[in-house]
Formats: sequence, C-alpha cells, structure tokens
Amino acid sequence: MSSYPNLRLRRTRASAWSRALHRETILTPADLIWPVFVTEGKGVTEDIGSLPGVSRGSVDVIAKRAREAVALGIPCLALFPNTPKDLRDEDGSEAHNPDNLMCRAIRAIKDACGEDIGVLTDVALDPYTSHGQDGLLDEAGYVVNDATVDALVQQALNQANAGADIVAPSDMMDGRIAAIREGLEETGHANVQLMAYAAKYASAFYGPFRDAVGSGGLLKGDKKTYQMDPANAEEALREVRLDLDEGADSVMVKPGLPYLDIVRRVKESFQVPVFAYQVSGEYAMIEAAAAAGAGDRDALVLETLTAFKRAGASGVLTYHAPLAARLLG
Ligand code: PBG
Repeated sequence: MSSYPNLRLRRTRASAWSRALHRETILTPADLIWPVFVTEGKGVTEDIGSLPGVSRGSVDVIAKRAREAVALGIPCLALFPNTPKDLRDEDGSEAHNPDNLMCRAIRAIKDACGEDIGVLTDVALDPYTSHGQDGLLDEAGYVVNDATVDALVQQALNQANAGADIVAPSDMMDGRIAAIREGLEETGHANVQLMAYAAKYASAFYGPFRDAVGSGGLLKGDKKTYQMDPANAEEALREVRLDLDEGADSVMVKPGLPYLDIVRRVKESFQVPVFAYQVSGEYAMIEAAAAAGAGDRDALVLETLTAFKRAGASGVLTYHAPLAARLLG
C-alpha cells in the first residue's frame, strides 16, 4: 500500500468523468418501486396534507400513472387503497371483495400496460378495518394471529385473482408467508411472487401514510404487539430467516434510511433480494427540508436513494420514484 504523497485519493475525484468511472453504486429507474394511493371516483385526484406533492388517484388516474411509470422506466407500482369509511368494518371484510378498489386498480393497470409493469399489492387489513389495526381483534383489542392469517390468505388470493404480480404482506403476523404461499400454490398462482415485509418496525415514520389510506384518524393505540421494536437487529435476522424458510421470494426492511444497518446485515447474512421502503415520514422530512430551504430536493432524493443501494438494497419503494426517475433519465 502506498501512502501520501504517492497516494492521493483526491486524484480520481478531480473531474466528473473520473468520478463517473470510479463510482461504485449506480442508481437507475429500474431500482424503484412507486407506491400509489387509490381512491373512489373517476378523474379524481386528492391532495394528502401530510404528503405534499403526493395525491390519491381514482382507478383511471392510477392507470395513467402506470403508463407514466412505464415511460420513465419504473418497473413496479405498489398499490394502497383509501377505502371509504362506510365500507370499513371490524373485520375488514372489504379486503375480500373481488371488486374492491385494489382489485379494480390492478385490472385497470393490467389493461393499460400488460406485462410492461409489475403490480405489487399490500396484504394487511388496516385500509379496510374500522379500527385501523392490521388484523382481527379479540374482546380485549389484541390483534389475534391465526385468525388474521386466514383472512390475509383470502385477501392475497383475491389480489392474485385480480392479476397482482407480487403480493406483499405488511402485517407482521407469524406464519403468514407459508400460509399465503400454500394458498397461491393450491389456486394456480405458482408464479405470483411473495415479497415479505420481513423486518417491519413499529415506527413513528408512518403517520402520513395512515392519513393517505384514511386509517390515521381511526387508529387507537399503536402496533407494537406485532411490528418490531426499533431497538432490535438480531430479531430482524430471525424474521427474515423465517420468511425465507416459509417461501418468500424477496424480503423488505421498513422504514428505510434509519434502518440501513438492517438492510446491510440482512444482505450479508442471506444472499437474497432485499428491498427497503423509504416511508411516508421520510418523504415528508425531505419535502419539509426542501420547503424550508434547508436542502436541495433533487440532491436529497438522489443521495438518499443511492445510500439504499450502497447499503445492499436491490430496490427501494419511494414516493419520490417519478421525480428520481426523471432526474436519472
Ligand atoms: C400497513 C402499512 C403501513 C405502511 C405500509 N403498509 C402503515 C402501518 O403499518 O401502520 C407504511 C408506509 C409508509 O409510511 O409510507 N400495513
């Protein structure tokens, strides 16, 4: 190893062409998954107060966004429904309606784009329950595991029947990956992928999302009896191992930026596709910083997304996907 002055690390940084040549991590639009919020109506877009720049869209609008994503080189859309209040109940039964918002959006995207884009669907009951929890409650208000898993299997099959390419359970129930995998096999959906929200933390960064799907005002208490304690890392590796053993095709770490150590440890422990979710609160922080003149939006977006890839992520779910793809294109 040579040393200064023979070794000058600034030498390769001195010009743009050289920095490009030595860059270790390359971010492309193909690394991005774009989460979108679906709402009732036709030609409707609705702003979301806590997510400036993001709007819900009716099914036809979402189909247009899918075409926009294809044009930008974004390979996958993640769908979340804003279920009207009168269709929500204790058990989230609207999740099983083959004509619910989610299923109509899946079909509209497939009609518009066919195989040009993947559709990822969220499996969890919170957009459908009157209490905003991800599962079924007992009398004490505890989210029960096994009965919830049965409901999640039905929800996932409903989405697969509508044409979902990737079902992504975000509920953190034990045993749901194996149960959903078995359900998919038995119903002729062997090629539907399972992306497990394997290490999902009980985070303070989800607030704007809950506004976006309309469960924020309904949720009492928190989700700490099923989502992970932010203090834990070894437990995340156990969660990931379990989900892989149960048949997950890929795993996710969520939230993103505050958990890059988890992304790195998962990638080093298991050589599997790892995705990270730059969640709503992270998006809102970047937007707030930009609005306050505390940072340049475009630069903050590209730097944070590059950090995910450097940490080992195969891809990132981000509300900044269309902006980032435009900047990269
Ligand atoms: C619900 C779900 C949440 C998010 C994705 N799926 C919220 C929660 O667990 O309360 C959060 C995404 C975000 O904040 O952007 N199962």
